[in-house]
Amino acid sequence: MEEKEHQKMVDIVIGMQFGDEGKGRIIDLLAADYEIVARFNGGSNAGHTVKIKDKTYIFHLLPSGLLHEGVVGLIGNGVVIDLGQLIKELNNLKKMGFQPQLYISERAHLVLPYHPVLEDIEEEIRTKKIGTTRRGIGPAYGDKARRDGVVIALLKKPDELADVIINRVKEVNLLLQVLNKPLLNADDIISNLILETAEVKDLIVDSIAFWQEALTSGKKILLEGAQGALLDLDFGTYPFVTSSHTMTGGALVGTGLPLKSINRVIGVYKTYISRVGGGPLPTEQVNETGEYLRQKGKEFGATTGRPRRCGWFDGVLARYTAFVSGTTEIILTKLDVLSGLKEIKVASSYNLDGKVIEHPPASITEFLRLLPVYDTLPGWEGNLVSCRSFKDLPFEAKEYVNYLENLINIPIKAVSVGPERDQFIKR
Ligand code: GDP
Ligand code: IMO
Ligand code: MG
Repeated sequence: MEEKEHQKMVDIVIGMQFGDEGKGRIIDLLAADYEIVARFNGGSNAGHTVKIKDKTYIFHLLPSGLLHEGVVGLIGNGVVIDLGQLIKELNNLKKMGFQPQLYISERAHLVLPYHPVLEDIEEEIRTKKIGTTRRGIGPAYGDKARRDGVVIALLKKPDELADVIINRVKEVNLLLQVLNKPLLNADDIISNLILETAEVKDLIVDSIAFWQEALTSGKKILLEGAQGALLDLDFGTYPFVTSSHTMTGGALVGTGLPLKSINRVIGVYKTYISRVGGGPLPTEQVNETGEYLRQKGKEFGATTGRPRRCGWFDGVLARYTAFVSGTTEIILTKLDVLSGLKEIKVASSYNLDGKVIEHPPASITEFLRLLPVYDTLPGWEGNLVSCRSFKDLPFEAKEYVNYLENLINIPIKAVSVGPERDQFIKR
C-alpha cells in the first residue's frame, strides 16, 4: 500500500494561453486512458467543446472526459458550482444517452443567485471593463476568500445553510437598496437550493477520502484545467484575469492531491492566440489576419458567444506559462486553421519603451505598451484535416511546429488538425 501511494498516477492538462485553446477536445481524447477525470478550478465560465461526428457537446462544469464509459468524474474543491447549471448539464448528457458517473467535493463552494447580480454591478461601475462571463465566478470566489462562502457540505445542514444565506442576502440587499435595484429574497434562494440538493446529494463526497482510495488502488487520474494560464489570478494579466488559479499550483490546491502524485503536466497551446473580454493581447491582429483566424478558427465563445480577439502566437508568453506551470509536454491545436496564410508571425521578444524584453511585465500599463518583435515564417496551402501522421504535413507546417518547439524548449508531442476526435497527429 505504501508503495502504491507513492506512484505518480496524476496527469494535468492546462490551457497555456488565454483560454479556449481546445482543452476540452484534448481531455476527451486523453480520457480514454484514465479512470478518473476531475476539474479543479473555475466554474461555468468555462466552455469546453467536444465534437464527435455530428454531435457537439459543450461542458461548462462537468469534466470533458465523461463521454467515455467507465470514466468517473469529480468536481474538485477548487471549483465554484452553480447547482442549477450542473443539474442541467447532467440531464443533457443523460438525454444524449450517457450515464455520467459524477462526484462533487463537499469542500467546493456554491455560486448563488446574488453572485451574478453583484458581478453585473461591479462590471457596470468599473471604468476598465474586465468583460467577465457574468456567471458569478468572481463574487463566488470573493465570498470564499472573505469567509462568507457557502461550502457544498452545508447542503446537508439546512439550518447552518439558511443562516449563511440570510446574512449574506441582508448585506447584498443593503447595496441593492442604495442602487435602487430589485431586492433578493433569501427564502426563495434557500427553498430553491433545497430542491436542487435533492438532485445532487448522493454525488457529494469527501474528496480527500476519494483521492486516498483512488491512489491506493492505483487509479489513473487526469485533471482538467479550465480557463488559461494567462487568466491565472496571480500570474495572468491582472486585473484582466479570472478569480482562480489555472495552473499546476491550482490543480494541487483545487483537489488536495499531493505533489508527489503528479506525473505529467500537459500544456495545450493553440497555434495562434485568442482572448475574449478585456485586457492586453500584445500580438492581437485587428485586421484581415485577425478576421481570417476568427472566421476560419470559428473563434466565438463557447459560453457567451462573444467574438474572440485573435492574433499571432506569442512566444514570450508561451515560455513564461510553460515555466510557471512546469509543463512537461505540449499538445498544439488548430494547425489546420493556419493553412492559406502567406506568412506566419510569432512574437519572440517585446520592445518596451525602446528596450528589448523577454519576460512579461507585472504592470498592466507596461503590458499595454508592449510592442511584439516578430519572427516571420513561411505559410503553406492545403487542407490538413485528413493528415494523420506528422510526415504527411506540408514542409512549412512541420517547420512551424519545429520552430515553436525550439522556441518554448519543451517537446510538442501531438498536433490537432481539426475538432474531431481523430483529427489528431501524434508525433
Ligand atoms: P477550450 O475552452 O480550451 O476547451 O476550447 P473551446 O471549446 O472553447 O474552443 C476551441 C474550439 O476549437 C472549439 O470550437 C473546438 O471544437 C475547436 N477545435 C479544437 N481543436 C481544433 C482543431 O485542431 N482544429 C479546428 N479547426 N478546430 C478545433
Ligand atoms: P475556457 O475554460 C476564455 C475570461 C472572461 C474574462 C475573464 C474573467 O473555456 O478556456 P470570469 O467570468 O472568469 O470572471 O471572467 O476571463 N474567461 C475566459 N476566456 N475561456 C474561458 O474558459 C474563460 N473563462 C473566463 O472572458 O475576460
Ligand atoms: Mg472555452
